[in-house]
Amino acid sequence: MDVVSLIHVKRDNSRPLTSQEIAWLFSAYASGDVADEQMAALLMAVYFNGLTGAELRAWTGEMIASGERLDLGGLTRPTVDKHSTGGVGDKVSLVLVPLVASCGAAVPQLSGRGLGHTGGTLDKLESVPGWRASLGNDELAAGLRTVGAVIAAAGGGLAPADRRLYALRDVTGTVESIPLIASSIMSKKIAEGTGALVLDVKTGSGAFMESRERAESLARTMVALGEEHGVRTRALVTRMDAPLGRAVGNALEVEEAVLALRGEGPRDLMEVTYALAENMLELAGLDADPREAIASGRALRAYQRMIRFQGGDPDAPLPRAAHRRGALPAPADGWVTRLDARAVGVAAWRLGAGRARKEDSVSRTAGIRCLAKPGDYVRRGEPVLELHADDPARFAAADEALDGALTVAGEPSPVPPLIAGLIGG
Ligand code: URA
Repeated sequence: MDVVSLIHVKRDNSRPLTSQEIAWLFSAYASGDVADEQMAALLMAVYFNGLTGAELRAWTGEMIASGERLDLGGLTRPTVDKHSTGGVGDKVSLVLVPLVASCGAAVPQLSGRGLGHTGGTLDKLESVPGWRASLGNDELAAGLRTVGAVIAAAGGGLAPADRRLYALRDVTGTVESIPLIASSIMSKKIAEGTGALVLDVKTGSGAFMESRERAESLARTMVALGEEHGVRTRALVTRMDAPLGRAVGNALEVEEAVLALRGEGPRDLMEVTYALAENMLELAGLDADPREAIASGRALRAYQRMIRFQGGDPDAPLPRAAHRRGALPAPADGWVTRLDARAVGVAAWRLGAGRARKEDSVSRTAGIRCLAKPGDYVRRGEPVLELHADDPARFAAADEALDGALTVAGEPSPVPPLIAGLIGG
């Protein structure tokens, strides 16, 4: 086999690649016989021509086989995980993972870092004093046995082919391809060893997949891949037009997540959290009520144990930004009908809450508090947001990102339900 012929096949869409050809491609790429520029050309051909179901299954299988697949079969609890395609203010995992663990499941949540305008769960938890993201496989298993939940950095042994391919896609304009995204996400989740998985595929202005149609197509593709590889998988398609909850930024989101675990979470955050929890518990075969787990304090206790297990102090005060100021004044008295999630995400990122490149560090304290959200009444001149930063010089760039992010109307408009669809049996 030679890679140039495979590139021609995919470029001209003359026939599907066989599973033998895909296996050869991954092995030749790993050994250095296929160069980065050749793989990049093939990725661009996939970007334009897609992959058939059989090609995608083989492609994902090779990504999984490029590393280790964790065996969580020795646990007495059923394993179930969740993955979100990322949204602004999306701190759902911080509430959901201990919540579902407190209902009897084991949740092995292994994640990467946030990139761009959506934050990463690990970055958020690192604002808790002492908490560490890295766990060895033995520690991971011990955490699942004793606490029932871990949120940790995915080790280098899981789907290493994805790391190389993702880095290549990032610099060659080939990230936004449904089969490439689906295989990237699912190879890592399948390799992590979970028995069941619920996906939160976001759609709307703050989401990676802005259009509903593409979000549904990504969700269907990922559900099929999970099921084909023996993981019971469902996807919720959820709206991400406004930030989720009122806090955006690492420590600010942890603070809001703890409030949610105490039963004082904002309505929209709880709507998504409970819908995901119900689906996770059903797939795990557990008959438990997530609302009761919050009301009784069980979920909060599971969070505290999970944080302590990873060296953190759940009672320590969270860090706070040195500088705060109001932003986005309401142009008139009236009801907020739009607060653009992407603009708020970009503004929080410019304040220091997110990273542009993998190597960048993030501020624990920078971020945004939403003083009003769609459905709230505001008075002319009142700030709708409160910006938090370590360095006040960052405020101007955040203001610029927020230009045009707000609509205030004389009449309230109905806030649509956040759950837009469910895919999978
Ligand atoms: N997240 C991933 O892990 N992979 C992608 O391709 C896109 C988002």
